[in-house]
Amino acid sequence: MQTPVETRGRVLSVASECVPLIKTGGLADVVGALPGALAKVGWDMRVLMPAYRALRPRLNELDEVWFEPNLFGGDGRVMAGDLDGLQVMLLDAPHLYDREGGPYAGPGGDWFDNARRFAALSWVAARLARDGIDGWKPDILHAHDWQAGFTPAYLSYGGTGGVASVMTVHNIAFQGWAPAQALADLRLPFDQFYPGALEYYGGLSSLKAGLVYADRITTVSPNYAAELMRPEFGMGMEGVLAQRAGAVTGILNGVDTDVWSPAVEPVPYTAKSLKGKAANRAAFCAEMGLDVPGPLAVLVSRLTDQKGIDLLEICIPEFVAAGGGLAILGSGDALMEAAMRRLEARFPNRVSVRIGYDETFSHRLFAAGDAVLVPSRFEPCGLTQMYGLAYGTVPLVSLVGGLADTVINASPAAISAGVATGIVFHPVDATAFGQALRQLVKLFANKPVWTQMQKNAMKQSVGWQASAAAYAKLYADMLA
Ligand code: ADP
Ligand code: GLC
Repeated sequence: MQTPVETRGRVLSVASECVPLIKTGGLADVVGALPGALAKVGWDMRVLMPAYRALRPRLNELDEVWFEPNLFGGDGRVMAGDLDGLQVMLLDAPHLYDREGGPYAGPGGDWFDNARRFAALSWVAARLARDGIDGWKPDILHAHDWQAGFTPAYLSYGGTGGVASVMTVHNIAFQGWAPAQALADLRLPFDQFYPGALEYYGGLSSLKAGLVYADRITTVSPNYAAELMRPEFGMGMEGVLAQRAGAVTGILNGVDTDVWSPAVEPVPYTAKSLKGKAANRAAFCAEMGLDVPGPLAVLVSRLTDQKGIDLLEICIPEFVAAGGGLAILGSGDALMEAAMRRLEARFPNRVSVRIGYDETFSHRLFAAGDAVLVPSRFEPCGLTQMYGLAYGTVPLVSLVGGLADTVINASPAAISAGVATGIVFHPVDATAFGQALRQLVKLFANKPVWTQMQKNAMKQSVGWQASAAAYAKLYADMLA
């Protein structure tokens, strides 16, 4: 693996998921998109992630570059090379990752040894970075979320070898908690078990470790960076973050505009001519048996408490009575899945629900929908409101995190100035969400205003360019 001469620096990203190899949420999209976006501005990027069972058949496309004996209960090997256009290193440690199920959970729920599984990833990341492999040694280790949280800590304990570290928080709700008794098992030093270092409410948190030991901290939107310092959003970590406020930057995610573009949908369309959008809507409604005189809202999401899904059952009946319709694609909490199915059973020609994960189908929803709903209680960045912008599928979002940073509310002033791109509500409760849905029905009925909003939305730049420039600046600052 040779580094091109004009490289501004080498970065090893450490993460538990990465598009196109494995994805459970937006983390994977971002980890998968960053290398391409940063390569364009001169950074040499590689990604280290676990070789889960689903990825093992591809190990024979890669070369062994590292052997790690006794990696938390078995041997580990790092296999490196090009997979689907991405420079990856897969950590093959069958005793930790060769299991039936997803990255974090099996048929019986979360894996009991998740702390150890991802500590192993972080351990190897720090060792690789310190020594380099085949002449490739990163300048920067970029750790993503709790799964990679111990990386900066291990790097610091074992000697950084001149490698700088950055920790990115995609979601503070997941903190990588482990009991204090796990210190030795996780190869962490006892003398670092105090509040200023590893200790976290009497136990351990890999995310906190990352926040304490990383040289720099980023999160995925400027607004979330500010929110995280406050107890309402910091989820116990606000003190740690406030203490490191000087090291924290919020960098908004982008989306892959080659993939998320109405120009590549079954009936393509542009901001100039939205006719194709109407055709996509008509075809979708016909296929789903929907008959919707008012706005067709769509929602593509994990069905969890974070996403405000419980508000739908309360507010959608009135929205339907006002002429609206809803198409949902998602999976998650069993009670929420059941609630969505109840809505569908109650309004069969207005509400369509598909439980599951389906990338292709999700495109159809954005192409067909008039609006996309994102009523999240908290949302570090959020990607689906940005797909909505790109598709002229007007986002209706709560005023939190990256949603607040990306959508311009249709206030009378914003409408008359011709800049509104969506509907933003606050606080996150059924009253405000219900009011926002009423506003959606009203705005949709006002065709000139509605079309203007769609066009405004589609004019927003949601690609990776600005984010890549911000990460490039951060990396360059770290090396300076
Ligand atoms: P989070 O990472 O918190 O789940 P994001 O909005 O950042 O939220 O990213 C979610 C990503 O996962 C988006 O790309 C979205 O389209 C996708 N997604 C979520 N649920 C599904 C699903 N059921 N089918 C297909 N794609 C989904
Ligand atoms: C997390 C957040 C989401 C964000 C994504 C990518 O999953 O919940 O808001 O867009 O990470 O950074």
